[in-house]
Amino acid sequence: MTGTKLISGAEWWRTAVIYQIYPRSFADANGDGMGDLAGISSRLPQLKDLGIDAIWLSPFYTSPQRDAGYDVSDYCDVDPLFGTLDDFEVLQRTAHDLGIRVIVDIVPNHSSSDHGWFQAALAAGPGSEERARYTFRDGKGKVGELPPNNWESVFGGPAWTRTTDPDGTPGQWYLHLFDTSQPDFDWDSEWVREQFRAVLRFWLDRGVDGFRVDVAHGMIKAPGLPDYTPPAEGGSMGGAPATLEPGISAESPVTAPYWAQDGVHEIYRDWHKVLAEYPGDRVLAAEAWVDPLSKMAKWVRPDEMHQAFNFAYLETPWNAAKLKSVIDESIEAFGNVGAPSTWVLSNHDVVRHASRLALTGENLQGHGIGPKTVGLPNTAVGLRRARAASALMLSLPGSSYLYQGEELGLPEAVDLPDYAREDPTWFRTNGERYGRDGCRVPIPWEAASASFGFSTGAQSWLPQPIAWAGLARDQQNGVAGSTLELYKLALSLRREHSLASGTVEWLESLGSDVMAYRNGDVTIVANTGAASVQLPAGDVLLASEDLVGRTLPGDATAWLRAVTA
Ligand code: NOJ
Repeated sequence: MTGTKLISGAEWWRTAVIYQIYPRSFADANGDGMGDLAGISSRLPQLKDLGIDAIWLSPFYTSPQRDAGYDVSDYCDVDPLFGTLDDFEVLQRTAHDLGIRVIVDIVPNHSSSDHGWFQAALAAGPGSEERARYTFRDGKGKVGELPPNNWESVFGGPAWTRTTDPDGTPGQWYLHLFDTSQPDFDWDSEWVREQFRAVLRFWLDRGVDGFRVDVAHGMIKAPGLPDYTPPAEGGSMGGAPATLEPGISAESPVTAPYWAQDGVHEIYRDWHKVLAEYPGDRVLAAEAWVDPLSKMAKWVRPDEMHQAFNFAYLETPWNAAKLKSVIDESIEAFGNVGAPSTWVLSNHDVVRHASRLALTGENLQGHGIGPKTVGLPNTAVGLRRARAASALMLSLPGSSYLYQGEELGLPEAVDLPDYAREDPTWFRTNGERYGRDGCRVPIPWEAASASFGFSTGAQSWLPQPIAWAGLARDQQNGVAGSTLELYKLALSLRREHSLASGTVEWLESLGSDVMAYRNGDVTIVANTGAASVQLPAGDVLLASEDLVGRTLPGDATAWLRAVTA
């Protein structure tokens, strides 16, 4: 690792802005319509210019791509679709030379069914050591024709698939909390634990700055694998439904026997020690859909992981009272264990916030949106709220995650043709749920180029909406008032005023739709209502919409230089 240009100071991740790159959709250097590592390397200077501290790369490992790379068949190699290990070395070196840290994804709950370990388990048969590495069980019923329990896959349909023995007769069943092609490991196996320590070391030895841990609340299952029916309104990954007030699900009756089991913590204590063997403050970030936040904070106790995605914040509607409450709850819950809060509004699994914040139908959190969704968002309202919400998020103390394209104000692509869809959710629910393709469409770089400059070829693996020409980076770069310039300004002021290491001091109410708070020498005012509000004293540093005099319009956020009495 070059080190010298990277943001200095111990525990850099406490204040970092981490930009998620979805390799399939960021930049394509070889013209096949699918993003790749060389494409990412070529665009890193633009991310430097944006002002981020680190990138997190979604999986680029060898994979049959049944779940867009979250189905890994070799944890220590690069899929030819994305390049080679040498391309990764170049990417990492380029990033480090620019002062950008590199976090990679690790997928420990399940592998691909193509993985040699799973293929060996199938071949070795019931009772073998190889089968004990995954979650195989005999079926119920007279001849094992029924699944071992009633669990459902997050992507829809049953969570069990029956195997076929070499002689063609039906055999045992295996568990997959996600797609059939993603068999769950059995983390009671010391062999599995040892393999993953080796995977961590493989990437740490190559100089990565940390790992985003996929399904970090799912690896341990309750003994006996008891039947469980999730509440109808619950999030399928275990989080609270979007309609709940933050914190209310503290009363949640039962924890699913496959989410948030106590045994996972031992695994992260072990991983913490592995990372601690390496210099340079390497980081573990949990994707753990655990509710309430006080429980999620267990994932980031001092000897476990370093960060956890704050999905409670992501799921909070654009509403001043609810946002204020989740901000307080987050700072308290994470602060109680000595961890920074994180903040996030979009990622590759949820409806982009430039659309989500303006949905008017019932499907507020949902399972993706598409042409038939009731209450599709108004694009202008969505963009306005997204800009205001991002300006609020980037003013908060702690670490923030950005998802590629949000700095351009990209909305969800809602008009994707059915034939183009790839998300297993779409297939496993027979089109009942649109799934996540709409937030994964390749991003636009240049309005006048084929595929808007995403690819050196003409195509992109998912079609890009025509209207995205107007949102392309080259249309926004250097243009005052553009979303891209708003993000750049926010990131530079955030650094200049040390907002990420500051505190939240709420100011006297400016109305029930308005949040006003002080962070160091900056006052932040966010107006989630429709009516304009008069700004308090102080020079305006940033505004997500044009101000009329000192009036902040609805759905807008402003930062002011605080006036001290
Ligand atoms: C969470 C990932 O973010 C998502 O994209 C993936 O489908 C599931 N985990 C399964 O790995």
